[in-house]
Amino acid sequence: MEKKWWMGKVAYQIWPKSFADGNGDGIGDLEGIIGKLDYLKDLGIDIIWISPVYQSPLVDQGYDISDYYAINPVFGDLETMDRLIAEAKKRQMYVIMDLVVNHCSDEHPWFQEALKDPEGEYGKFFYIEEKKNGKLPCNWRSYFGGSVWEPIPGTNKYYLHSFHKKQPDLNWENPKMRQEIYKMMNWWLERGIAGFRIDAIINIKKKLPYKDYEPDRDDGLAFVGKMLDEAEGIGEFLEEMKHETFEKYDAFTVGEVFNDKPGAVEEFIGENGHFSSKFDFGPELCGKHGCWYKNETVTPEMYKEVIFDSQEKTGEIGFLSNIIENHDEPRGVSRFIPQEDLSEDAKKALACVYFFLRGIPFIFQGQEIGMENCHFPDIDAYDDISTLDDYRVCKEAGYSDEEAMEFAYCFSRDNARTPVQWSDEENAGFSTHKPWIMVNPNYKTINLKSQQQDETSVYHFYKKLISLYKDEAYHDTFTFGKCIPYAREQKNLIAYERKGEGVDLLILANFQKEPQKVTLPAKCEKVLLNNKDELRISEGEITLQGYQAVVIRM
Ligand code: GLC
Ligand code: CA
Repeated sequence: MEKKWWMGKVAYQIWPKSFADGNGDGIGDLEGIIGKLDYLKDLGIDIIWISPVYQSPLVDQGYDISDYYAINPVFGDLETMDRLIAEAKKRQMYVIMDLVVNHCSDEHPWFQEALKDPEGEYGKFFYIEEKKNGKLPCNWRSYFGGSVWEPIPGTNKYYLHSFHKKQPDLNWENPKMRQEIYKMMNWWLERGIAGFRIDAIINIKKKLPYKDYEPDRDDGLAFVGKMLDEAEGIGEFLEEMKHETFEKYDAFTVGEVFNDKPGAVEEFIGENGHFSSKFDFGPELCGKHGCWYKNETVTPEMYKEVIFDSQEKTGEIGFLSNIIENHDEPRGVSRFIPQEDLSEDAKKALACVYFFLRGIPFIFQGQEIGMENCHFPDIDAYDDISTLDDYRVCKEAGYSDEEAMEFAYCFSRDNARTPVQWSDEENAGFSTHKPWIMVNPNYKTINLKSQQQDETSVYHFYKKLISLYKDEAYHDTFTFGKCIPYAREQKNLIAYERKGEGVDLLILANFQKEPQKVTLPAKCEKVLLNNKDELRISEGEITLQGYQAVVIRM
């Protein structure tokens, strides 16, 4: 396998609005990010993914772009962005941006032109249709609720939006549109970014001609994702994109790829795949069944099975990007650790387990201090459009306000979008101004400043994880070594080996409060990492305390 610069790197996701506020208006910004580069470097981060900062009405928090060539003044300007890229480079760090090209904002000039003249050049940049025999082209339900079809005022036409109605889908069947996108991507790559995280990409290929699917809710609509199972030929678009853009720059690309069709691993991230990497969403999808109220609580056994399943499917074909959370998910510690067991040890154990899997570890802002889900006082305190829709669906299904709020506490995307808790000062040290969204009230106890002063904190554990990962003696094994599940049947034990040339590492985590014994596959040479003070090892056997996690060299 050809070695690439990004293999073995550690990545960090910044969701700018809530990361750090540089100018004191209560909203995170680029200046705020620049101010934290030394912090990220010291933590051990190599690649920084910045969620969208382009010009946007922020209906979907920047995933609705009205100008791909401009920075939203709320976040800064191009000069600041250039400085951020340069400052990162000085520290041997790479910046990747979010590429949102399944759709743009309805405020984008292309769409504005399309509205004026749906039959004209820019009308062809979108999917615009008329009703036939009084019927819309299909019954697909958008990701954020309601039909994907929205009327164009003053006409008998409708445009398609897979997400919010303010996010019209771009027509990828139109080669002219595609060229415009490639031009824009190259413009950013020329500015010195190292690549892209590629948003919602699977949606760019529609199953055409349109057709209805079996309704899956009382609204008579069918989930738009249904169409994706049947859509074929996305590879042609993605290969073209690759040749026209990132291949020329040796860029790092990580796709938000949800579906798991046979052969998808090879196709997307194999040696000649469309992207460098794709996120492993196995854990995020685990126990989800279409609506909040149908979701199951994830048990350690369920979690273990999904991560091993992804590892097995991927093997050495390519590199997954491993996460426990992102800006679309609740906090990983609140989702994958049974609530009654949530503790610093458990947070460290979860970190240890996902971090050393084969692939590229991504840390989401605040994860490194163990930030948790947030109790919002009422539905009006939430901002996220998707949360508001899911909440409505629960209410319509007959759940009380209290129940629907509890679901939101467990699953809302805003759980990950509260400001990073830098200190116990006012507004958690995020801003001198009242933040745009509430701060999690637990910031007095969970914050970076206090954790920096405490060697046993979650934060220091993350630092240790990263430095072990990068230790010359093990870096190749963590990067390229095989990942082999160990004692998979042993309940509430999550264990695997990482095997490289002449190196055999064992990662063990006890996901329960009670101690448990584990038989070792070989003699323990050295304990490389331990989230507790002690470790009981005797002849071929180890006793792990509740939520104890260790990395051992065999
Ligand atoms: C992706 C983003 C999400 C956004 C959606 C529409 O899933 O991660 O935040 O809402 O795409 O762009
Ligand atoms: Ca600001």
